[in-house]
Amino acid sequence: MKRRTELITGLDVDTREDALAAVEIAAECSWFKIGAQLFTRCGPAVVEAVRDRGKNVFLDLKYHDIPNTVASASRAAADLGAKLFTLHASGGKAMIAAARTAVEDTDTRILAVTVLTSLTDDMLRQEVGLPETAAEAVPRLARLAVEAGAHGIVCSPREIAMVRETVGPAPLIVTPGIRPRWASKDDQARIMTPREAADAGADMIVVVRPILKHENPPEAVRLILEELQG
Ligand code: C5P
Repeated sequence: MKRRTELITGLDVDTREDALAAVEIAAECSWFKIGAQLFTRCGPAVVEAVRDRGKNVFLDLKYHDIPNTVASASRAAADLGAKLFTLHASGGKAMIAAARTAVEDTDTRILAVTVLTSLTDDMLRQEVGLPETAAEAVPRLARLAVEAGAHGIVCSPREIAMVRETVGPAPLIVTPGIRPRWASKDDQARIMTPREAADAGADMIVVVRPILKHENPPEAVRLILEELQG
């Protein structure tokens, strides 16, 4: 069965005003990602403000700490009404399992980040001390995360097929690095179009600049949603 791929607009801005203006201009989109930048500036109130506008919030704070702390933070994310939030798979099974237990009676779902796409194989070996390449570490960490209780995985478009093969059909796969053909690449190198990511098995795509920097953002949202449905 063909999966329906959802669009998430990232709120990569510094102020509540800019965040709510972005929610307004991307009104056709039902998911918004709040990351470390906006959350550190505006705190939980901005999550509540986006939710008050009837939108789903993906809280992308990438928790990585001892299990007890991550469990408490995960519960806080669920209590705040975030429908999705991220943690680092490299925090280990106990940390992920503790997060899962903390949100078990809610409809908040956990996404695990495997290896940050900004890390090269050289950096992984020399700085992080990992004896694996990213191509080896990503499926290993994806499997570990799902076995420990994560509901899904965040990965780059070129990792979708590998992650899907590793975790099977059920877990969510969420991917940034998406560029419609009509959009500028900006600083993204290995991109896919919304359609390609959907065909590769992504459940949700994160798009920011092609929408927020478009001369007609509502039109950009409409075009992406149309492409996902096509
Ligand atoms: O503007 P653009 O669509 O490139 O934004 C993509 C979003 O996804 C940004 O919030 C960016 O920080 C995030 N992201 C990414 N690449 C990753 C991980 C996260 O672009 N590997």
